[in-house]
Amino acid sequence: MAHVSQTLAKSGKPFAYSPENEQKFKELLPKYPTTRAVILPALWLAQEQDGYLTVEAMEYVAKRLEQPAVAVFAVVEFYTMFKTEPTGKHHIQLCRTLSCWMRGYEDMQKLIERKIGIGPGEKSADGVFSFELVECLGSCGTAPMMRMDNRYWENLTVDKLSRILDACKQGRDPASEDTQ
Ligand code: FES
Repeated sequence: MAHVSQTLAKSGKPFAYSPENEQKFKELLPKYPTTRAVILPALWLAQEQDGYLTVEAMEYVAKRLEQPAVAVFAVVEFYTMFKTEPTGKHHIQLCRTLSCWMRGYEDMQKLIERKIGIGPGEKSADGVFSFELVECLGSCGTAPMMRMDNRYWENLTVDKLSRILDACKQGRDPASEDTQ
């Protein structure tokens, strides 16, 4: 995925929280010691609303928190969980750091490339999948692992991942394949 600094063009799409997210945003404020500390969860709300963050959404968050836009852009650029372009319906973040590397993340990557036909940073033509390699997601004891659909998929094997991808392709709930 491209970094914010590479994609600073405005989308032309105005952004504002939905009524539901406006309520969540108001509930966030008293939970944090400073408005700066709210940047991360406020951005997450914005991303959940549209699936990715436009420049307008980042500027909106900055304005609501009375923070400089550059501080918000920096947070988006730092965390791989934030997306500045539309992702596929199932966005795969495969960990490539030490534990996952030692336990065969490369086999998972090869499987994804073979089965879906996309490499890191790409999206499938049908929009079902997008794929990126990320650094440690903090679940090293269950390597190799990936994040997809806002959850972790752990102790991956080629067979298990193959079943998960098939379920996604067929429009089934892939959670039913999260077994050994
Ligand atoms: S090395 Fe993959 S989750 Fe930590």
